[in-house]
Amino acid sequence: MSARDAWKSKLGFILAAVGSAVGLGNIWKFPYVVGKNGGSAFISIYLACIILVGIPILIAEIYIGKKSQLNPVGAFRFFQKGKIPFSPIGYSGVLCGIIILSYYSVITGWICHYLMLSFRGFYGTETEISTIFDNLNNTPWLNVAWHTFVMTAIMLILMKGVMKGIEKASKILMPILGILLLVLVCYSLTLDGMKDAWHFLTSPDFSKVTGGSLLEALGTSFFTLSLGIGAMITYGSYLKGEVNITKSAVQIALIDTLIAFLAGIVIFPIVFSNNLEPSAGPGLIFQTLPVLFAKMPGGHIVSVIFFALVLFAAVTSAISLLEVAVSFIIDEFKCSRIKAILIMGSVIWLLGILSAVSSWNVAGTPFLDLFDKIASCYMLPLGGLCTALVFGWAITTETKYKEIGSSVITKILLFAAKYVSPILLLIVFLKEIGSF
Ligand code: TRP
Repeated sequence: MSARDAWKSKLGFILAAVGSAVGLGNIWKFPYVVGKNGGSAFISIYLACIILVGIPILIAEIYIGKKSQLNPVGAFRFFQKGKIPFSPIGYSGVLCGIIILSYYSVITGWICHYLMLSFRGFYGTETEISTIFDNLNNTPWLNVAWHTFVMTAIMLILMKGVMKGIEKASKILMPILGILLLVLVCYSLTLDGMKDAWHFLTSPDFSKVTGGSLLEALGTSFFTLSLGIGAMITYGSYLKGEVNITKSAVQIALIDTLIAFLAGIVIFPIVFSNNLEPSAGPGLIFQTLPVLFAKMPGGHIVSVIFFALVLFAAVTSAISLLEVAVSFIIDEFKCSRIKAILIMGSVIWLLGILSAVSSWNVAGTPFLDLFDKIASCYMLPLGGLCTALVFGWAITTETKYKEIGSSVITKILLFAAKYVSPILLLIVFLKEIGSF
């Protein structure tokens, strides 16, 4: 068997991990969740979740992957101590990745559609523009066509391998994303609504924070850092040699959080300048923003930049979702990379058709919403909880100090991984089950 793939450089690993983390979760979900939950008070809770749960579990995943040099299923099996099998945690992660990518690809397809429309410009009345979204959703063949396009593109990138495919795509797309985002931030700074947006993002209104927002903050922080399915285990497994895991995890989380915050700085001034409610919900970037792009000066170019940026973010995340399943097939079935990609890509493509045809549903809930609910509300927290338990309790503290380091920061984060994260995740998980 050929040698296992590996990253060319540490920077390549960080960019690929940031590419996985920064996605629709940051640019589409974060702003509307913040809007819905009253702004900066929610942001403080979100930050606490990133520090207390996100970074510790990110460290756990990277460590588990780097140490075992295996896909999530093999990696958990590697750490098994007694009779209780650990590999089901990996299987559930692979399955969850398949489910998430099946609808993530459909949403990425919508972004492609909106990017094409942006090149032409958004014209028409407010109702006409906001019904573009409904029309797209009511045209199953178009949705399936975009979904097919996205899956094909992702499969082609992965076929080039870890170093020449994932690492190279991230090295090209992430810096462009950063530049596009800064261009938009500069633009937003010139808008009248910036003052209101700044106030909204920086003066906490704790009265709007409920128990529900706490759970939402934890769930969002998990989704946005790509935790809970073994994506970071997979990326960690391509690491060789000396790597400071704590430092890498902190860097990845910092950049991811910064980009989510900057996306808020871009979107809220546009919303406030047009006297809209920041709590518009999931339709914010597909229904609300295009109406504003049609009205505002320079809106045409701003919309092209915006949707290109979201597309780049989504593609580098989708790559990581597919890589989890692909690495599983390669390791466990000793299959060639190309074959593994063709098999898993086709399975996910087929499953995605259920979400692409929006009229198909289960008891009134469209497949896309159903899959999102099952994956992000149940499977991710459960996967995170099991990861924290394995890392915290099946590996001795001495081993971890020896291999990860024992600086004060690392010690605090390892303590959080052992005690704080599992307890918080257990609460979230039980609460989700309770509300089912
Ligand atoms: N983090 C990505 C986002 O914010 C989505 C994502 C990629 C993901 N890989 C993942 C979510 C693994 C959970 C698990 O959009």
